[in-house]
Amino acid sequence: MKIKKDILAPELPVVGAVLIVYTATIFFQDRANWNLNSILGFSFLIVLHAALYLCRKVLFKNRLGIYFFVQGILIFLLSLVIKELYQAAYLGLIPLIISQCIHLLKDRIKIMSAVLYYYGIYMFTGILFDGLRNGLYALSLLMLISSAMLAYGYFYTRQLQAHEKTQSLLYELESAYDKLEAMTREAERQKLARDLHDTLSQGLAGVLMKLEASEVHLENGNLEKSREIIRSTTRQVRCNLNEARAIIQDLRLCREDSKNLRTAIDQEIEYFKNETQLLIAGNCSGELSVNTTLCKNVLYIVREVLVNIKKHAKASKVLINITLEADRIYMRIEDNGIGFACSRPGTSYGHYGLIGLKERAKAIHGELTIESHAKCGTCITLIVPV
Ligand SMILES: Nc1ncnc2c1ncn2[C@@H]1O[C@H](COP(=O)(O)OP(=O)(O)OP(=O)(O)O)[C@@H](O)[C@H]1O
Ligand SMILES: [Mg+2]
Repeated sequence: MKIKKDILAPELPVVGAVLIVYTATIFFQDRANWNLNSILGFSFLIVLHAALYLCRKVLFKNRLGIYFFVQGILIFLLSLVIKELYQAAYLGLIPLIISQCIHLLKDRIKIMSAVLYYYGIYMFTGILFDGLRNGLYALSLLMLISSAMLAYGYFYTRQLQAHEKTQSLLYELESAYDKLEAMTREAERQKLARDLHDTLSQGLAGVLMKLEASEVHLENGNLEKSREIIRSTTRQVRCNLNEARAIIQDLRLCREDSKNLRTAIDQEIEYFKNETQLLIAGNCSGELSVNTTLCKNVLYIVREVLVNIKKHAKASKVLINITLEADRIYMRIEDNGIGFACSRPGTSYGHYGLIGLKERAKAIHGELTIESHAKCGTCITLIVPV
């Protein structure tokens, strides 16, 4: 989502008004006395005056005093070029510049000084060209027009402020949206990393171990054992391939089917029993159908815990207690292996299983506890409300 940054610049309507003053002044010029030089001079000064409106932010950044002074001088020069029509130009241009003063200066004293400056120019020109009496009369007319402009300027400024506020809210909304998008991307990346770890990476690591074992048996001439390992490896590769396909299907279809968690966990435990020679007690009890996400997360947590026991624990006994209840899933898997210091999981390269456990538990609002001490075995507990 991209929001257009620039709203209609407030200078544009003012420049439009300057052009109207210009056209009207030229229009009222007595055609019999048309003087090409004065029209050209007037046009040039008007263009300069309008250009300063547009380029103020660039040319007079933080120097508004100079800006308003220069605009006053330009207006005065205009009057010198078109003497007989100076009033028309002044009555149009001075209220415009005064309304800009109010909008930009904000400080009352500065505004008053600017107003006096422009009235002064007007008075001076009026007295210069028409004498004192006419000058004073024209000044009162200018004041009347300026008052109307002041009221217009006030409402215009308020409208502008409301517009700016809306704009800044839109920017905030845009940046919040960007942050949300980044967070979503980050969450998706982590989810993919976990799935890759718990399926392909675990699978390939298992295949590698088995192939290495098979090679050792081959070298020792134990063909039958080697053949058996290769058969089991083939089964495992098929299984991993199916899982990879399931992940791809999930990503493509975003389906949330109902899955029998008991069957999935039983298969996992059965596989673990076949793959290790450990003494395994306990099982999974209860029946529960859950959505794909919950099923996948619980299953991969169980798998990672079991794979870690197989890979690292050097245990002789494993106790599995998984209970599937209507309102919660309870898992406790304990080994009597070498244990480890579990203070900083997931901080070293190539070891992402434990951090994945924590992230998965969090994703399903579960409570995960890892208790392990060197030489005292490991016990991992998970409680998930359903
Ligand atoms: N049951 C366990 N018994 C003993 N040590 C364990 C056990 N579980 C984990 N560990 C230790 O914790 C470390 C981190 O485990 P983790 O699962 O995060 O990574 P990994 O198994 O080494 O690699 P990965 O899971 O990414 O393939 C392991 O390297 C191991 O030293
Ligand atoms: Mg691991």
